[in-house]
Amino acid sequence: MPKAEAAREIEALRSSIRYHNYRYYVLDDPELPDGEYDRLLNRLRDLETRFPDLLTTDSPTQRVGGEAIAGFSTVQHEVPMLSLDNVFSAGEFADFDRRARERLGDLLGRAQATGHDLFSLPQMTYCCEPKLDGLAISLLYENGLLRRAATRGDGVTGEDITHNVRTIATVPLRLLGDNPPALLEVRGEVVMPKAGFLKLNAGAAARGEKTFANPRNAAAGSLRQLDPKIAAQRPLEFYAYSVVQAEGLSLPASQFETLQKITGLGFCISREIRRGDGPEFVQSFYDDVQSRRDSLPYEIDGVVIKVDSVRWQQELGFVSRAPRWATAYKFPAQEAITTVQAIEFQVGRTGALTPVARLAPVFVGGVTVSNATLHNFDEIERMDVRVGDSVVIYRAGDVIPKVVRVLPELRPAHAAAVVLPQQCPVCGSDVERPENEAIARCSGGLFCPAQQKEALKHFVSRRALDVDGLGDKWIEQLVDLALIKTSADLYDRARLNKETLLPLERMAEKSADNLIVAIDASKATTLPRFLFALGIRDVGEATALALARHFGRLDAIIAADEAALMQVPDVGPVVAESIATFFRQAHNLEVITRLRELGVSWPDLAAEGERAQPFAGQTWVLTGSLTSMSRDQAREKLLQLGAKVSGSVSKKTHCVVAGEAAGSKLADAEKLGVRVIDEAAFQQLLSGHGL
Ligand code: IVH
Repeated sequence: MPKAEAAREIEALRSSIRYHNYRYYVLDDPELPDGEYDRLLNRLRDLETRFPDLLTTDSPTQRVGGEAIAGFSTVQHEVPMLSLDNVFSAGEFADFDRRARERLGDLLGRAQATGHDLFSLPQMTYCCEPKLDGLAISLLYENGLLRRAATRGDGVTGEDITHNVRTIATVPLRLLGDNPPALLEVRGEVVMPKAGFLKLNAGAAARGEKTFANPRNAAAGSLRQLDPKIAAQRPLEFYAYSVVQAEGLSLPASQFETLQKITGLGFCISREIRRGDGPEFVQSFYDDVQSRRDSLPYEIDGVVIKVDSVRWQQELGFVSRAPRWATAYKFPAQEAITTVQAIEFQVGRTGALTPVARLAPVFVGGVTVSNATLHNFDEIERMDVRVGDSVVIYRAGDVIPKVVRVLPELRPAHAAAVVLPQQCPVCGSDVERPENEAIARCSGGLFCPAQQKEALKHFVSRRALDVDGLGDKWIEQLVDLALIKTSADLYDRARLNKETLLPLERMAEKSADNLIVAIDASKATTLPRFLFALGIRDVGEATALALARHFGRLDAIIAADEAALMQVPDVGPVVAESIATFFRQAHNLEVITRLRELGVSWPDLAAEGERAQPFAGQTWVLTGSLTSMSRDQAREKLLQLGAKVSGSVSKKTHCVVAGEAAGSKLADAEKLGVRVIDEAAFQQLLSGHGL
């Protein structure tokens, strides 16, 4: 290929990738299936490898992390990076609001002769934003290209972290649009989303490495690396919250509108940002965001309330290090100090012993906490936590509170180190802890009532056999009363029937009937669900599905050796060993045989190779609610037929299945002329393919 042609294609690819990044990250409305996007990126990478002198630093391929730097250089902030004052209650915010309006009233010459008049200004319009709990950074663009990224530092002098920030997918390397401003400085927060944080820590814990106390530390730690390859592997995101310098770009005189405007340049802003008038609006925003705090993708520690008018911001100015036109309205603290009263070990589904600290009750993050997890025994040794210690505990959203660190200066004399029990606290079996593993396990297997309970809870859970109404409390009673031990016992009507259920606490005739109906209904299942329900170590939903699709029949999976199992996508030696070990245990096979004898059944799938994939290469979209099956079930069936299932409609969508109350996706399909079928037609199509 001639170089000029390559250059043209490279430019076209880059601009198309930037556009799709924008659809994906900023609008959260991707147009392309992931596979198509990857193809564009791979093609670009390929061309850049063949024509290395066409490679530029703003190419979308340059997020993998370049060379490590020797040390951080310092950066002077032309506009200082300030901090915010805090308020903690509606009353304190009302004071802030009053002060700002009085001051503006004075400044604008509207004060009454009688002195400060509270109502000299009508309600103030505020831009209300979540206070993201990450790391503040400044991004400097020259002629549309990212030139420098810096930490806040002391507000005047920060550190140059451009090498790391370049790896963050939501930081534009080049601004979108044809007429880039000569200069633009955008500030915002780098955060690690909760999901990515949990995954990162789980991986570190499994490798016996140090975990991060919270997403903010994880984000900060990632940006403090000299080697950008580390940051490139961390799930970081950037959300813009202010523009402090702009040349060659006219900006609205409103904070809210400025943020909207810069999304057009390729920046992400939080989805929670709202504008409204007066303290009452602010309070309702605060209450609303606080009530949804746990379900937000990132951690926040409050909201930030800013006077929306840029002109009034200028009038109000600053006191020492903080603006008079903005304040943080903080949520109650998430960290607190308390004492450890005992350390106990809980036994999980796979026998893992999890140490739990019993604490003197303490109010943290809006709830009273009296237990905190210590993860595993390594963690106890690393922190050297002892009974009697004063500890810092941290509660983030809906996750279990955890002990972050010990305050050794407050340790009572004679506090003894914790020892790992030799015997399972529940069943007395030996505790095993393979060398180099952080996790100690009860060796009792399904003999151990704790493992029985956890295995049963998993078996009946929604994504497994989905037994409606059989909650944890029932399972615990059923096991404690020795009515059931294994999942097969659930279906054994000689053991579990109305007469045996009725003595349970809070069990009535009606609920006993319902429970039996629900258990019986769960007998008809699918192979992936059944495999997942077995609770094989390392086999999550995705692996269960991959196994089912690869082998088609349960007996083929039981018969497979490690080598055969490793043929399945994403099954490596560790997972293969877990699966093979599970099916080598006689008692597991016994339970499976009994389950089948008692009527648990599923349709076999055609194994890979023998399967017709009539929908191969097609992308389907599901929208609205279906009445004859759940969305998950519909998705599973489409996958079985070889289709891809996407969350959004594009020109390339093959077909949209529209259930009841279908919304914007249906409209999209109609606009793009994509085929739409209703539930009845969909069912007919499925049954035509034996599903
Ligand atoms: S505005 C002069 N907006 O909070 C205004 N800050 O205590 C300065 N933060 O260092 C900041 N979310 O790291 C602003 N929506 C938001 C924010 C936000 C989080 C952080 C930021 C700053 C700290 C101030």
